[in-house]
Amino acid sequence: MRLLVTGGCGFIGSNFIRYWLKKYPDHQIVNLDKLTYAGHLSSTFDFSKQKNYRFVKGDICNRKLVNDLIKETDIVVHFAAESHVDRSILDPLVFVKTNVLGTQNLLDAALKHKIKRFHLVSTDEVFGELPLHGGKFTEQTPYNPRSPYAASKAAADHLARAYFYTYGLPVTITNTSNNYGPYQDTEKFIPRMITNLLTGENIKIYGDGKYVRDWLYVEDHVRAIDLVIKSGEEGETYLVGGSDREINNLEIAKIILRIMNLPDSKIQFVKDRPGHDRRYAIDSSKIRKQLNWEPLFSFDDYIAKTIDWYEKNRWWWEPIKKKSEKLYKKTMQI
Ligand code: NAD
Ligand code: TYD
Repeated sequence: MRLLVTGGCGFIGSNFIRYWLKKYPDHQIVNLDKLTYAGHLSSTFDFSKQKNYRFVKGDICNRKLVNDLIKETDIVVHFAAESHVDRSILDPLVFVKTNVLGTQNLLDAALKHKIKRFHLVSTDEVFGELPLHGGKFTEQTPYNPRSPYAASKAAADHLARAYFYTYGLPVTITNTSNNYGPYQDTEKFIPRMITNLLTGENIKIYGDGKYVRDWLYVEDHVRAIDLVIKSGEEGETYLVGGSDREINNLEIAKIILRIMNLPDSKIQFVKDRPGHDRRYAIDSSKIRKQLNWEPLFSFDDYIAKTIDWYEKNRWWWEPIKKKSEKLYKKTMQI
């Protein structure tokens, strides 16, 4: 099998490739990545020399390049995206270019070359926010994106589904909650907290900190994608979430401080994100029942392992950390 993975130098994409090469050593993987601020070749060092892996630096919006690569592909696994809500508030245009036009470009090429499966990796943020107490997102929840990031991902989902209904392109989609684990950029909440503490800084909590996300260890997500590609039904969407309990941002900060043996006085409340979604929660019954998936990695154990990974892999995050904090200080004054 020949896979084209887009965005394989990012957080989830690099974890996906590492998992896939180990599990399917006879498959070929081409990783197409533009190496934006979020793409790190260092996230691929451990597998970059394997014979069945090839890196191509390029933009998913480049029609010729995408056509040339998809010509030799059986399965597209599409991760590449502008993925950070805070950045989408500062500069929405690049989100529309990459997440909407880039996805459409890939869909066109996939259709032209009759690929076997187009898997789109999406987010629960397309559904908007939930009240603090109440139900969860399901595959039937109407789309209601509230940030430019979420709106651009919603558009990509709609396009992918339209290519299934209109042209019969074999599309599957996973909408997933917040992932955490190794190789996540230091701009995102959990790695930002850990690396702030490792550099003597405070943890920055937006607003009142009572925002709830559904945290999923990245390998559980990657396993779900594997199952959907293998056994998921064409045209179907699967929601993938991990939380065994609901934990708000402030509680996560305190868990991390406890594990790192640091006092709660390291928590600093900063100004809130505009349009900040209060709560995300996922009902994963469909993928659990139909594909027998379940999360294997508990938050308490794997948050500790994630902290340990950042403590041991300073070589990976130290070169990118300054840039993330510069962004926050300069543009958001936090
Ligand atoms: P990331 O920001 O860490 O990585 C994105 C990768 O895409 C980077 O390597 C970047 O260089 C590449 N890229 C960006 N624009 C590109 C372009 N125009 N052409 C080619 N490559 C480009 O993102 P992530 O956290 O790994 O997320 C991967 C996917 O999963 C995204 O589609 C995201 O929306 C989705 N998702 C992420 C989460 C999460 O918690 N991280 C949750 C749900 C869904
Ligand atoms: P983030 O990792 O940006 O993911 P998303 O906004 O896509 O869910 O943020 C997760 C949560 O953490 C969100 O409620 C915003 C909050 N947050 C902070 O409180 N402080 C921070 O420094 C960051 C980066 C995020």
